[in-house]
Amino acid sequence: MDHSSIIHEDPVLISGGNYIKEGADSTSTCLIFSPYEKDEVGSLARSLELFRENHVNLKHIESRSSARLKGRYEFMVECAPGGNLGNAIEKLKASSSYFNIISRNHENNRGTVPWFPRRIRDLDRFADQILSYGSELDADHPGFTDLKYRERRKQLADFAFNYKHGQPLPHVEYTEEEVKTWGLIYKQLTKLYPTHACKEFNHIFPLLVENCGFREDNIPQLEDISNFLRDSTGFTLRPVAGLLSSRDFLAGLAFRVFHSTQYIRHPSAPLYTPEPDVCHELLGHVPLFADPDFAQFSQEIGLASLGAPDDYIEKLATCYWFTVEFGLCRQDGQIKAFGAGLLSSFGELEYCLSDKPEVRPFDPPKTALQKYPITEYQPIYYVAESFEDAKEKIVKFAQTIPKDFTATYNAYTQSIELIDSKPQVKNLINGINGQIQVLKDALNKLS
Ligand SMILES: [Fe+2]
Repeated sequence: MDHSSIIHEDPVLISGGNYIKEGADSTSTCLIFSPYEKDEVGSLARSLELFRENHVNLKHIESRSSARLKGRYEFMVECAPGGNLGNAIEKLKASSSYFNIISRNHENNRGTVPWFPRRIRDLDRFADQILSYGSELDADHPGFTDLKYRERRKQLADFAFNYKHGQPLPHVEYTEEEVKTWGLIYKQLTKLYPTHACKEFNHIFPLLVENCGFREDNIPQLEDISNFLRDSTGFTLRPVAGLLSSRDFLAGLAFRVFHSTQYIRHPSAPLYTPEPDVCHELLGHVPLFADPDFAQFSQEIGLASLGAPDDYIEKLATCYWFTVEFGLCRQDGQIKAFGAGLLSSFGELEYCLSDKPEVRPFDPPKTALQKYPITEYQPIYYVAESFEDAKEKIVKFAQTIPKDFTATYNAYTQSIELIDSKPQVKNLINGINGQIQVLKDALNKLS
């Protein structure tokens, strides 16, 4: 049985459990502000003086042109914990025409927006936020007593831990034994795909065989797959050292980035893995990220998650579970599988299309509340009418999340833009107007 690559963010663990390797960033608070005054250089100096007076150490200072106030600048400062931050914030707010707090430690700062990555390279910060490191195995894990296996897991987890955005993805020389395990799974699953997988999956799979070395005797490399996905939909892969929190994992999707493990399950139990492995990621997840509608659907879940309150992160992670991991869809009057947990598990792929489980229509407000087991086959599956339909439903659901901004992804700058002012909305409308002109021109030429 395969598991999702995410686990639910448990507030008890977050506030001091042993599973979290707290990074330096986890307690810092980011403030974004535009001073009232036009003398921006002087006002930045005065703002910084406020932090000094209140004994707040700054870890990072950044300035950029404001998208909200024409001709003005916007500053972002990252404050280390300590000092009288509350007092500094109050004073700064009073002298700013725009002010926003983004804090990783938001549970202690009611009313602030939980921290989320703004630029694609901010995803590097997740590396030390892993909930359980790839080499830390539970006592009932098939590889628990196998020291050689644990060493290998650590080696691959270290590759991921040290990975930085922009670097080539780590190349892994898989051993004969590892390739044998992959081959066993590959052979079994590829027999079922033509009858059980959705048509988009079956359309893309041969392209992965042709372009990325998907073969029974070869474990494909993340770098080759990531390049293929980038050409198809702009999705890319990042190696991950262990389990991420739901919040961090979903945030990656907002950038069309999928966090992928690189190790393989233990050879003693080739048909079982208690956590995601390279078979689950490459056979289950990768093919559909090359489908434009599915890619868009996945990114919408990611965008909805940015800055969302904890209870909504759990709801979005549940929607993710019942779609990207265990989703079914209706195609030509038949039900087919598109969830990665199904497409990477021979047993569950057969079971999910049998008459044993209950099947319900995908409806985010209801699906988001459904509890589910993680160590056995799912008793309930949700059926999407199409990826397009599922996307529209998720977008509608996202509008019910209490947030005072709308987040969009700017693919040119690979960054998230918060739309919370009229000038930004105007810019977006101008962009759409430009696109409408292009469409009109295309339509004229077609007719
Ligand atoms: Fe997964």
